[in-house]
Amino acid sequence: MKMDLVMPDSRIAESFLMDADAVVYHGNCNDLLRQIPDKTVQLVVTSPPYNIGKSYEKRLDLADYVKQQAAVIEECVRTLADTGSICWQVGNYVDDGAIIPLDSLLYPVFRDCGLVMRNRIVWHFEHGLHCSRRFSGRYETISWYTRPAKEFVFNLDPVRVPQKYPGKKHFKGPKAGQLSGNPLGKNPGDVWDIPNVKSNHVEKTEHPCQFPVELVERLVLSMTHPGDWVVDPFSGVGTSIIAAIRHGRRGAGAEVVARYAELAKERVSAAMTGALRVRPMGTQKYDPQVAGNSLTISPWQPVQNDMQYKLLETEARYGK
Ligand SMILES: C[S@@+](CC[C@H](N)C(=O)[O-])C[C@H]1O[C@@H](n2cnc3c(N)ncnc32)[C@H](O)[C@@H]1O
Repeated sequence: MKMDLVMPDSRIAESFLMDADAVVYHGNCNDLLRQIPDKTVQLVVTSPPYNIGKSYEKRLDLADYVKQQAAVIEECVRTLADTGSICWQVGNYVDDGAIIPLDSLLYPVFRDCGLVMRNRIVWHFEHGLHCSRRFSGRYETISWYTRPAKEFVFNLDPVRVPQKYPGKKHFKGPKAGQLSGNPLGKNPGDVWDIPNVKSNHVEKTEHPCQFPVELVERLVLSMTHPGDWVVDPFSGVGTSIIAAIRHGRRGAGAEVVARYAELAKERVSAAMTGALRVRPMGTQKYDPQVAGNSLTISPWQPVQNDMQYKLLETEARYGK
């Protein structure tokens, strides 16, 4: 039996406590969710198992997978504050080379719970499996849902990004000559180019598919206020809790694999003292060419040129 315990040297509880700063629950998410009172949580953000046979999941029949997800989603909706948000981050289910986008499969579940979709955010990244029978997958999605009323929290200013043309001015009308862009920056849009956590990433742990902290930070800053609860039912090594703590929110998560829950505790603890190394929000993406990385010099240069000539020859033959 789990104890409602706040560890003496930190503010991390092992079961849900309203006055804890963080909760790292080792066990099934349904058990953690049951401990959370109705309408308590301002943001549920998670990346559930995709049912693709990762080390931490048992591959289910797709209908059973949706049923299992629906049970978790319904509990999340029960705990959701009236002004709250649910962000469900998923990729594709792959069956014998055919892909099924999990967000479309789960959409009816959220709709039937009475929620509405506010954005379908495309998270683009550059590292992943190299496919040979289809284009390599380089994005996943975050489906953002709220209750239908208009009062949901959405703060744009903390997540604005630099304007492309900050010097641009209105060229006609009453504001002609005045700067046209918001000096705080522009709306980041719904396509987010954020590096995924692979081998060289400063946040990499032994977990095979952790969130980058900055991905969750953008959701925390725009959808919650300081002191609010952020909950991740499939919390892995605790990234969502970390993003919450870094911005003065409270974070709770459940994780079934003991080793990941232990790593989550260590990382959340480090985040509380400011000792956790993260990739700061808004950091420019590494560009190997700009950095002068010698591996960017192609050993195949002559072959590439050769192909270019072949293309030109083909064009000549067809008289273009
Ligand atoms: C895609 S990973 C999430 C990783 C997480 N976003 C992070 O940054 O570390 C899904 C996690 O859910 C865990 N999991 C699977 N079923 C679970 C359940 N019923 N309750 C709690 N955790 C579960 C898996 O062990 C895995 O670590």
